[in-house]
Order: sequence, then C-alpha cells, then structure tokens
Amino acid sequence: MILVIKSGGEAALAEWRALFGEYAPQLDVRWWDDPTVPAAEVGYALVWEPQPGRLAGYPNLRLVCSSGAGVDHITADPTWPRHLPLVRMAEPENAQRMGEYVALAALALLRDAKRIAVAQASGSWDYFEPPRTAPETRAGVLGLGHLGRHSAKMLRDIGFVTAGWSATRKFIPDIESFCGDAELERFLARTDILVCLLPQTPQTAGILCARSLALLPAGAGVVNVGRGAHLVVPDLLAALDSGHLGGAVLDVFDAEPLAPGDPLWRHPKVIVTPHLASSASRRARARYVAAVIAAFERGADLPNLFDPARGY
Ligand code: NDP
Ligand code: OXD
Repeated sequence: MILVIKSGGEAALAEWRALFGEYAPQLDVRWWDDPTVPAAEVGYALVWEPQPGRLAGYPNLRLVCSSGAGVDHITADPTWPRHLPLVRMAEPENAQRMGEYVALAALALLRDAKRIAVAQASGSWDYFEPPRTAPETRAGVLGLGHLGRHSAKMLRDIGFVTAGWSATRKFIPDIESFCGDAELERFLARTDILVCLLPQTPQTAGILCARSLALLPAGAGVVNVGRGAHLVVPDLLAALDSGHLGGAVLDVFDAEPLAPGDPLWRHPKVIVTPHLASSASRRARARYVAAVIAAFERGADLPNLFDPARGY
C-alpha cells in the first residue's frame, strides 16, 4: 500500500522513508509529485497544502492525514474526498511547542520585548520598568482544544490569571471557562493578553476585528497563532496606532510568506514570526501517522478526526 507525502518538500522524503521504515515498514512511502506513482495503489496521504484536485485523483485513497494541526489547507479544496476520514495532527509535541511559543509571546508582551529590540537596534539604553507582573495580568485563550488547553495551562503555571473561550464548557483547574457567542464579550472584557488558537471556520474568520479588539481593556496585547483569516489587520493596526492596544505577536498571515513591504514587518508594536509556533518533529509525526494507519487497518476508532458538521 502506498503512502504519498507532501510535507517538508521533496528533500524531506529520505527522512520520511527512514522514519516510516521504523514505524510502519509495510508502507511504500512515495513523494507526492513522483510521476511513477500508480494512482490506483495510493491508499494513504500525509499532506500539507495539497494542490486542489490532487487528492480526488487517487481512486482508492482510504485515509488522509494532515501534516499540521489545522485542516483548512485541505478542506479549502472543493474536490477533497470528504467521504474519507481526515485526521488532524495532534501530537503531544505540537501542544508542548505551541505552549512554549504562547508563553514566550505573552511574556514578550508583558515585558515589552519589542521596545527592548527596537532600543538595541538603535544602540539606545532605554531603561524602563514593567507596569505589572504575570499574576497581575489576565491572559485569555480563544480555543481550548489540543493546543489551546495546553497553552492555557502553561500561562496559568507562569502565574497569569488565565481563562479560555470555546464552543463547549471546559473544566480545567484554575482556568475560567467561557463558552459560546453569548460569553465572548465578557471574556474579552477581562483579557489583558488575548491568544487566538481557534481553527479557521466560517464562524471564526475575522473574529479579531475592530469590535472585538475594542472590547479588550486599554493596553491589551494580542497573540495570533490560529490563522491569518482570524485577524482583520487594518483593525489591529488602527487599535495599535490609537494606543488602545499595547502590542501584538503574529505568527500567521492571510498570505504566507508575509510580503516584504507589509507594514506589519516594521511596526514598532508588532513582533512577526514566520508560522513557526508549533510543528511536531518529523519523527513524532511519522510515529503518529503510523499509529493512525494501524488503527484504521484494525478497524479501531481514529483520533482527532475532522468533523464536517463542526467544521474543525
Ligand atoms: P482543536 O480542534 O483541538 O481545538 C479547537 C478549539 O476551538 C476547541 O476548543 C473548540 O471548542 C474551539 N472552537 C472552534 N470553533 C469555535 C467557535 N465558533 N466558538 C468557540 N470556540 C470554538 O484545534 P487545535 O488546538 O489542535 O488547533 C487550533 C488551531 O491552531 C488550528 O486549527 C490551526 O489553525 C492553528 N495552528 C497554528 C499553528 C502555528 O504554528 N501557528 C500550528 C498548529 C495549529 P470545543 O473544544 O468546545 O470544540
Ligand atoms: C498548522 C500547523 O496547522 O503548522 O498551522 O500545524
């Protein structure tokens, strides 16, 4: 049975092959653009941003695994085989790495790391004291799923007064749970550092807009690690430039890579990172996908399945 891979570029194929050789030696691991792959023998696909129409071209495909936690890069293809199981990447390593990034971003906002970097770049000794500590700061995480829950716990453990917002109520020690549209305003109004870890769906697109940003307390900071589509960039820039928001850390953008001339690069209150917040190692991803395929082959329940009804 062939597993086709589109993740990490063709240069990564040798590593993928070696790893699947350890975890699922029965699989014939092939590169996505290999013209010698017989389409009818492809049973499994592990992909990041597959070209629209390509998955539909494998008549005997049985299972699709996303190489990332989000699946919007697959479901955006109107022809993706929606009758097949689609499994999201949800390795413990993904959550750990995301938690580390979110902690870094929240502390960067708390201690104004951008001001420090700007001062260093101009060689200026810009001494200042932070206005508050983590226990005096309320962090809030939009999305308490695999990544949001772990990130919220790490923020809580640093000392931030932490809450989260999700579709359904959560019960996590020392993390206040807000849920549904009816509780969003109250959640935003109590949040000094807002972290977006939602999936991209029609309901969540544009959630970080003028209206929601205005509900945050004055001086609040925003961390977007969900998707570029969550954030209305002109609204963010207006809120930063008016002084309502204190800063932003952005890892995801509508168009990636971010265009060289984009104003976000040089904004004095914005830290830009190139969609690197959290990706599990290839070893962890190969181990996970091998386990998913093994579960599929013995007819067991699959973990982290995309649910078309919810859209994530
Ligand atoms: P999950 O599906 O595990 O969690 C999604 C969370 O969002 C759930 O808590 C869900 O609520 C909540 N949610 C979804 N829709 C709504 C809504 N309309 N209203 C309120 N809450 C909602 O996803 P992950 O945690 O694994 O990943 C989240 C996203 O992070 C990915 O989709 C991707 O876009 C992004 N990501 C970014 C990366 C980066 O490097 N920047 C890396 C990996 C992922 P409930 O629990 O009640 O269902
Ligand atoms: C993602 C990822 O979904 O990098 O963004 O895993």
